[in-house]
Amino acid sequence: MRQKIVAGNWKMHCTVAETEALLKGLLEGKSQNDRATVVVCPPFTSLEAACNLLKGSHIRVGGQDMSEHPKGAFTGEVSAEMLLTLGVSFVILGHSERRQYHAESDNLINRKAKAALSAGLTPIICIGETLTEREAGQTEQVVGTQIDGVLAGFGAVELGKLVLAYEPVWAIGTGRTATPAMAQAVHRFIRERVSGINQDAAAKLPILYGGSVKADNARGLFEQPDIDGGLVGGASLKADEFIGIINAA
Ligand code: 13P
Repeated sequence: MRQKIVAGNWKMHCTVAETEALLKGLLEGKSQNDRATVVVCPPFTSLEAACNLLKGSHIRVGGQDMSEHPKGAFTGEVSAEMLLTLGVSFVILGHSERRQYHAESDNLINRKAKAALSAGLTPIICIGETLTEREAGQTEQVVGTQIDGVLAGFGAVELGKLVLAYEPVWAIGTGRTATPAMAQAVHRFIRERVSGINQDAAAKLPILYGGSVKADNARGLFEQPDIDGGLVGGASLKADEFIGIINAA
């Protein structure tokens, strides 16, 4: 049995004060579930406050991105070590918003994943097709190419230390969730593709679903055999809603 993971991607939301209020809501509510690892990914400016507030609790902290470089003249960037030394343990890489607005390629995401792994962070690597690609029947081709690119050069050891997130772009922030059956079909495809690298590691790999996950649709998704939890955007900004999703895992 794979442990479930429920991660909240806060995107560009929450000042430090708002971060503390939201996290207190999570700590005071029933946000602990023995079957699920809970992760919150606030913006960079709130990471230190989140790490301080959550120290010793069951909630882990993740970054939303990082540089492929360890240090240097890279204005606006943050390194793996900077995240790690704050107490961050996960980092989202290759989110579709990074791909869309910052032209991130599979190759760059692969280099970032290597940097994250060598620093000791757990990357949550995102893949997923657009609506045009789905409607053209290209979902497996697109997702397959992304997997090959982001996991290039990885073997069983690396696969044992990372998480994949399938986020169909058309389901992000649209309220249009993939049905459990649609999501499961792609998750199974992803696991089979990763089996081509290493069968045992693919069987153990957590694959999260993301895209309009809410408390009332989470259970149906998380019950699917190849869906190991969720990467949650909008619904992770409300303590009650996020707790509902954690409890569905
Ligand atoms: P929503 O849950 O708001 O659709 O966002 C999903 C997402 O992009 C998580 O990374």
